[in-house]
Amino acid sequence: MTILYEQWQQQAEKLATLLGEDILIVGSADALVEEVNVRRDEILVILGPSTPLAEAVGFAEQCRVRRPALGVVLLRQYLDVNVMAEALRAGVREVVDVADSAAILGACARSQDISRQLNQHTHANGHAVMPTSGNGAGDLRDGQVITVFSAKGGVGKTMTALNLAILLAEGGKRKVCLMDLDLAFGDVAILTQLAPERTIADAVPVADRIDETGFRTLLTPYRSGLDVLLAPVQPALAEDIGRGLISDLIQLARDSFDYVVIDTASVFSEQMLAALDAAHHYLLVTTPEIPALKNTRVVLDMFDLLDYRREARTVVLNRADSKVGLSHTDIEKVIRVPINAHIPSSRDVPVSANVGVPLAVSHASHPVTLAIKELAAKKFRRTAPDVKVKRGLFSKGSR
Ligand SMILES: Nc1ncnc2c1ncn2[C@@H]1O[C@H](COP(=O)(O)OP(=O)(O)OP(=O)(O)O)[C@@H](O)[C@H]1O
Ligand SMILES: [Mg+2]
Repeated sequence: MTILYEQWQQQAEKLATLLGEDILIVGSADALVEEVNVRRDEILVILGPSTPLAEAVGFAEQCRVRRPALGVVLLRQYLDVNVMAEALRAGVREVVDVADSAAILGACARSQDISRQLNQHTHANGHAVMPTSGNGAGDLRDGQVITVFSAKGGVGKTMTALNLAILLAEGGKRKVCLMDLDLAFGDVAILTQLAPERTIADAVPVADRIDETGFRTLLTPYRSGLDVLLAPVQPALAEDIGRGLISDLIQLARDSFDYVVIDTASVFSEQMLAALDAAHHYLLVTTPEIPALKNTRVVLDMFDLLDYRREARTVVLNRADSKVGLSHTDIEKVIRVPINAHIPSSRDVPVSANVGVPLAVSHASHPVTLAIKELAAKKFRRTAPDVKVKRGLFSKGSR
């Protein structure tokens, strides 16, 4: 039975008549998700012309990853090139003028054909439940994504991300995935002495069909509760890793882990934007030096432009106790937001890097470990999701 989502009843009935009897009409986004989750074998959803574009795009993005055999056809009152491009990029199969009955029927038939072919190749239990826009998880974990970022390199992103991931896992109490998205120069493997036998680069040849099982094979187990997606060994491979693949991998990680901690490179590239777009929390690392602070302000301005939620940002001052002639008031004056966490400077940090054992592993009560532990407890401990998914189902654009 095809599912039609159309809020305007008159329009819904008109379309139902056109499409034949086997149509289930839903009038809300929540009802749509519910029906899609119940009807695991459904192969076609038609989004009526009253569907807001952001909802349609969000829904199609989720389907592409979780239910690739479920086709989405979008109907519009007017066909606009930009709208079409955005919808198709998100995974909508066809965008059709609602007034063109023949085109609607043709699009639906084509989409059903594709789905049937896909189903022949897919195991029925390969379907994943989609999160409702209400309470999230279904039978998936719906992990929180924490993206660690800075506009300036060398400020301590990797040190923070790595130790935070270890502490969040709490020796196996929670499942954490650390993704090294410093794609050209990622050094998590070195800092943990992990052999990079599988890396994110191995996802490239299967980028269009990677599923949860495939994703798991890319991960390198590090400690109880903590798996790592390592960066490519050869920097040149970084270029092949597209924004779409990164988004898909993050989504797959969210399905199986409670937390997804992402280490990044200090660039505003398409790849890093994928990691930022998917974040529930932004951890902005800086140091008490004017260039780093100035760049933090630039990042904050950029985040405003990108409409990333202010309440999701945490500014971390690393090497906070360095005597460099700047008081905390001076620092907050430059960045114009409060500092949320302070990590002290310690020679044990480079020492731990050199021996390949992070401080959170070797020194549980080291001041650096304790500072990151406090940050984790203050900002990220949770029993239930406290931040709704920004780009999850039906929430795109609601940041
Ligand atoms: N709190 C600290 N005390 C002393 N040294 C530190 C501290 N934090 C980081 N370092 C050192 O600073 C250097 C940069 O740290 P790190 O690699 O974590 O930064 P990054 O922001 O990830 O850098 P990149 O942009 O190159 O990836 C490393 O040599 C690390 O050992
Ligand atoms: Mg780094």
